[in-house]
Amino acid sequence: MASPANSGYVPFFIVAAVALTLLISSAAAHRYNVLRYGARPDGITDSTRPFLMAWAAACSSANAATVYVPNGTYLLMAAVFEGPCWSKITVRLDGTLVAPSDYRALGSYEHWILFMSVNKLRFHGGTVDGQAARFWDCRMSGRDCPSGARSVTFYWVNDVRVIGLTSIDSQMAHIVINGCNDVLMRNVTAIAPKWSLNTDGIHIQGSTRVTISGATLETGDDCISIGPGTRDTFMTNINCGPGHGIRYVSAYHCWNMIEDGVKNVTLTNSVFSGSENGVRIKTWARSTTSFVKMVIFENLIMENVMNPIIIDQNYCPYYEGCPNQNSGVRISGVTYRNVTGESATRDAVVFDCSKSYPCRGIRLQGINLTYQSMVASSFCNNVVDGTTSGVVTPKCCFCF
Ligand SMILES: *[C@@H]1O[C@H](CO)[C@@H](O)[C@H](O)[C@H]1NC(C)=O
Ligand SMILES: *[C@@H]1O[C@H](CO)[C@@H](O)[C@H](O)[C@H]1NC(C)=O
Ligand SMILES: *[C@@H]1O[C@H](CO)[C@@H](O)[C@H](O)[C@H]1NC(C)=O
Ligand SMILES: *[C@@H]1O[C@H](CO)[C@@H](O)[C@H](O)[C@H]1NC(C)=O
Ligand SMILES: *[C@@H]1O[C@H](CO)[C@@H](O)[C@H](O)[C@H]1NC(C)=O
Repeated sequence: MASPANSGYVPFFIVAAVALTLLISSAAAHRYNVLRYGARPDGITDSTRPFLMAWAAACSSANAATVYVPNGTYLLMAAVFEGPCWSKITVRLDGTLVAPSDYRALGSYEHWILFMSVNKLRFHGGTVDGQAARFWDCRMSGRDCPSGARSVTFYWVNDVRVIGLTSIDSQMAHIVINGCNDVLMRNVTAIAPKWSLNTDGIHIQGSTRVTISGATLETGDDCISIGPGTRDTFMTNINCGPGHGIRYVSAYHCWNMIEDGVKNVTLTNSVFSGSENGVRIKTWARSTTSFVKMVIFENLIMENVMNPIIIDQNYCPYYEGCPNQNSGVRISGVTYRNVTGESATRDAVVFDCSKSYPCRGIRLQGINLTYQSMVASSFCNNVVDGTTSGVVTPKCCFCF
C-alpha cells in the first residue's frame, strides 16, 4: 500500500493557498478604475467618456470584471452602460456621481444612468445626485420644461444586485427596474423633498423575482410603485415617508391598452410615516383586461398616514379621458395582516372597487388603525367574498 507522502496527491492546504492566490490576482487584474481612463473626481469635469470606456473594457473582459469608481465627485451626463457583457460585471461606486447642474442637459433624455441588456450585474454603494431642484422649480412654475430623466434605470437586466446605493434629488423616478428578472436590492436609499413632483423612489415594471430588502425612501411621490407585468416580488424592511406610500398601479399607460397584470407581490415588516398613502392599489377608471392578484401586506406600522389602506379603482385625474367609466382591472386575493397604527384621516380603510369587476377575496387579519386615538372608519364599494379574522378595527365594511 502506498504511503500518503508518495501517492501523488498534493496536500489540501497547498491547493487552497494556490487557488486563493489566483483568485486575488485575477480580481486585481480585472478591475477597471475610471481614473485610468481620464475621469476627474472634481465634480466639474465631464467624466462621461472615461466611465463609458471603463465600462466597455470591463464588459469585454472574459473574466468577471469590476468598474471601480474611487471616492470623489464625478460629473456624468446621460450615459448608457450597455451589454451584453462577456462575464459578470460589478460597478463599485465609492464616490458620488452628479448630474449637470443645468437640468436642461439631462432633461430631454428619459434616463440619466441607464444599464441595459446586461446579465449578472452587481452595483455596490455610492451616491447619485440628480441635482434636480431647479428642474422641479421649472415644473412647478408651469413654464415649458423638459420631460425629465430618471436617475438610475435597469432595463432588460437579468440577475442584478444593487447594494447600498443612495439616490438623491432625481428629476423623475430615482431607481427604475423595467423588464428585468432576478433582482435583489438591499439597503437602498432615495431622498427628495416632499414637494418634488414624480420623484418615485423605486419603480418596478414588467419584471419578475424582484426582492427589495431594506430601503429608506423619502420622496415627493410613491416610495415604491409597481406597474404592469410585475410578478413574484418580495419587499421587506422598507421605511417609507413622507412621500406617497407604496402603490400598486395597473393600467396606467395608454388608454384602452391591453396590459399585463400584477401577481404575487408581498410587502412585509415595514413602516410608513407621514406619507399620503400606506398601501394603495390604484387603477384607472377605464376598460382594460388587466389584473392584480395574490398580494400580501403584512406586519406594517402606519404613523400618521392619510390613507393607510386603500384600493382606488376610480382614478381619473382631471376627469380627462375616463369620466363615467369603470375600471376593467380585476383585483382578487389581497391580504392585509397585522397592520396597525395611526391614520391621519378618519377613513383609515377604503376599498373603492370597480362596479364592473368588484374586488374579490379581500382578507383582513389583525387590523388596528386609529384616528386621533379614536376609532377610525372604513368605506367600501363593490367588494365581494371578503373575509376577516382576529381583531379588525375599523370594523369591516364588507361584512354583513
Ligand atoms: C471622499 O471625497 C469627498 C469629496 O468628494 C471628501 O469630502 C471625503 O472626505 C472623502 N472621503 C474619504 C473617506 O476619503
Ligand atoms: C447601507 O448603506 C449605507 C450607504 O448607502 C452604508 O453607510 C451603511 O453602512 C449600509 N448599511 C448596512 C446595514 O449595510
Ligand atoms: C411568489 O413569489 C416568491 C418570490 O417573491 C416566490 O418565492 C414564490 O414561489 C412565488 N409564489 C408563487 C405561488 O408563484
Ligand atoms: C406585527 O407587525 C409588527 C411590525 O412589523 C411586528 O413587530 C409584530 O411582531 C407583528 N406581530 C405579529 C403577531 O406578527
Ligand atoms: C389598538 O391600538 C390602540 C392604540 O395603539 C390600542 O390602545 C388598542 O389597545 C389596540 N386594540 C387592540 C384590540 O389591539
